Amino acid sequence: MPRAPIHRFETVTSTNDIAKELAADGAAEGTLVVAAEQTKGRGSRGRCWISPLGVNLLASIILRPEIAPDRYGELAFVAAIAVARAVTDTFGLDCRVKWPNDVRVGGKKVAGILVEASHGAAVVGIGVNVNSTVLPEEISRSATSLTIELNRRIEIDEVLNALRDEMDAVYAEYSRSGFGPVLSEWSARQDTLGQSVTIETGGERITGTATGIDERGGLIVQTPDGLVSTVNTGIIVDLELS
Ligand code: BTN
Repeated sequence: MPRAPIHRFETVTSTNDIAKELAADGAAEGTLVVAAEQTKGRGSRGRCWISPLGVNLLASIILRPEIAPDRYGELAFVAAIAVARAVTDTFGLDCRVKWPNDVRVGGKKVAGILVEASHGAAVVGIGVNVNSTVLPEEISRSATSLTIELNRRIEIDEVLNALRDEMDAVYAEYSRSGFGPVLSEWSARQDTLGQSVTIETGGERITGTATGIDERGGLIVQTPDGLVSTVNTGIIVDLELS
């Protein structure tokens, strides 16, 4: 992917909003939007993504993959691997991934990904907890940051540069070879399979054992009564580590 510009902002509603506008104006693939603060940062499933001014990495990247929009969810796996590689290689932290789009260190979330479609492009929003020392109460037990893990202040641009390089590499492989190699690497880094999970999906809760990922990235869950379901969208609300 050719190196496209980085658009930097102090405060935006959401970097995904700005990236969507740029995509509508024909911005090149790889264009990055980075902000110090978001007033309406979005998480997955309609949640807010809260991050104080200048503390964390808030970025969105415009991609134009040659796939139908109903497959854009695959890009969350591409981005999760890029984040995991960047954090592992740059900071020496063992970074794992949790279905569908969390990146974790020591079982705690360090980054989240939100993919949205816009005007024939995909906008991949990535939030990395870089220098947060105090996390919002509702997530304080399930989240962490690079500074908490490393006990030092981190340059946000160091994370951005590493992420950009890895995103280029993983996305190039995805464009060349499809979703298979991405899923293989994701599977090698995942800490979801074999675990007992409760998933919230479309107002319903499914509890069972996560047994696999299908070729589209759906989570395969076996419930205690022996039924096997594939969950395409949803969130793991409870992961019982064995
Ligand atoms: C999640 O794990 O719930 C997804 C979080 C995604 C947050 C990032 S921050 C940059 C981009 N802009 C947003 O509004 N959301 C994403």
